[in-house]
Amino acid sequence: MTHSITFRNLILFFSCLVIVCHACKQNDTNVLQRNENNPIVKEMKLKNAAVVSAHHLASEIGTQILKDGGNAIDAAISVQFALAVCYPVAGNIGGGGFLIYRSSDGKYDALDFRETAPILAHKDMFLDSLGNVIQNKSLIGHQACGVPGTVDGMWNAYNRYSKLKDWKKLIEPSIKLASDGFAISDRQASRLNKYKEYFNRNNNASHAFVKYKAWKGGDTLTQKELANTLQLIANNGRDGFYSASVADKIVSEMKRGAGIISHKDLTEYKSKWRDVIYADYKEYRIASMPPPSSGGITLVQLFNAVENYNLKELGFHSKEMIHLIVEAERRVYADRASYLGDSDFYNVPIAQLTDEAYMKYRMEDFDLEKASSSTSIKEGQIKESEQTTHFSIVDSMGNAVSLTTTLNTAYGSKVVVSGAGFFLNNEMDDFSIKPGVPNYYGLVGNEANAIEPQKRMLSSMSPSIVEKAGKLKMVVGSPGGSTIITSVFQTIINVIEYEMSAAEATHSCRFHHQWLPDQIMIEDSCFSTELINSLQVMGHDVNIRIPIGKVETIVKLENGSLDAAADIRGEDSVSGY
Ligand code: DON
Repeated sequence: MTHSITFRNLILFFSCLVIVCHACKQNDTNVLQRNENNPIVKEMKLKNAAVVSAHHLASEIGTQILKDGGNAIDAAISVQFALAVCYPVAGNIGGGGFLIYRSSDGKYDALDFRETAPILAHKDMFLDSLGNVIQNKSLIGHQACGVPGTVDGMWNAYNRYSKLKDWKKLIEPSIKLASDGFAISDRQASRLNKYKEYFNRNNNASHAFVKYKAWKGGDTLTQKELANTLQLIANNGRDGFYSASVADKIVSEMKRGAGIISHKDLTEYKSKWRDVIYADYKEYRIASMPPPSSGGITLVQLFNAVENYNLKELGFHSKEMIHLIVEAERRVYADRASYLGDSDFYNVPIAQLTDEAYMKYRMEDFDLEKASSSTSIKEGQIKESEQTTHFSIVDSMGNAVSLTTTLNTAYGSKVVVSGAGFFLNNEMDDFSIKPGVPNYYGLVGNEANAIEPQKRMLSSMSPSIVEKAGKLKMVVGSPGGSTIITSVFQTIINVIEYEMSAAEATHSCRFHHQWLPDQIMIEDSCFSTELINSLQVMGHDVNIRIPIGKVETIVKLENGSLDAAADIRGEDSVSGY
């Protein structure tokens, strides 16, 4: 695949910026100074608090809430709503996500606000009468939509953990942003233009995202309808979305496009607090998301798989290190396909999969010199059977939030709720719509992840928090569909094994293997031909792809300050104080 800006160019550009900005550095806290022409900050060292998200306006809104006395949860709620306005490709109120919270005294919680299948959904809803998959039906249009979870999730987080206890204050900046508008970037403009035909095909009424002329960078995106919707949520909490006029609009939108989300689906939607999954790795503990995300379990499996090897000695991005991680990923993703789904509906064998001995057994046939083949690797035998977005926050008290949220692919189903101004997700594609048929991310699945009414579709979103010897060490997460897990895993390994700074760990090249297709995917212009050849000699099929993940990282340093980095792969930006 070719790109106008190669990844290597991005890395070079970033290195130059660091060198130039070291010279103009005014104090220790800000490595890359922002200015009027460049509001994006890629890296910062902060004394008190940090917010890293996909858009500088959202990061700044979160920081202001922190400065006004809010805690990390208050800031997270404000950032979630802000991203729904200034990052509509993935930020949302029509989607869902997952949140990991760690309080300053080391207590964890996990919030699941994943979408659910509508009550009228059924196992074969994306198949024709012959049992064949109907192209794109789970991806585009009204039937692709799951029941949105975001607003209930934010309301739930607010009621359990808010310090400010002022719901309206958390949403007001987003109402203003939607109503006044903001200047879109070149990248946002070209993305809106790219999807214009989809928006037109899937919507009758006019809405904010299409205009007569093409969008260009610097244009103002104003979203009056969304501002009204947000005002109703600000006034009425969760009911402002799931009942009354917004719910009516969602249901009318469904009727217009043969969708199946009903009032009952909306009123019955519940986000859920879940038990955090922990990976204990050396002196570190990595906390991540349990089902219906696959993130936590697969991360535990990956850490268990590599723990017996000395990654540091193998060397960063050596062929041996890549081969080891790839072979671990191959086995873990094979398990994901068979065993993982919504644990409220399917008996996910969490204890067995996360047992240390299990991954040791799975790695028994690992050959240091030679690639295995995904046709011979199946799930293990156990006794039973651009676009998502992430943000990381640490507040001045030391509470941390790691939150990943999504509409699934870019602008979700491309359906805008008429009169309410927001996109609905296309999360139904994350179910296994037919056993063995890959979803958008090439992931296959089975019965564990089959569609059932009110069931949550399996996710790869892996918001994570790392602690070292009982103290906060790192907050991290990423978009990227199936590559989320490996992006998060590699960023954590980069920090804890290769002692990288937040920026180095976040920006460095990534590779990925997901069992099927049987290939190592690598980022463009990242790895030397010699390294690629040596992996091929081992029997690996190596393929170049678009950037892998878009990680937002905060590392707590020994001196107590925060080292925050926003991935150079996007327009992501750090803020804080
Ligand atoms: O839940 C999941 O795993 C997917 N819906 C995430 C989609 C995603 O990360 C798209 N990002 N680039």
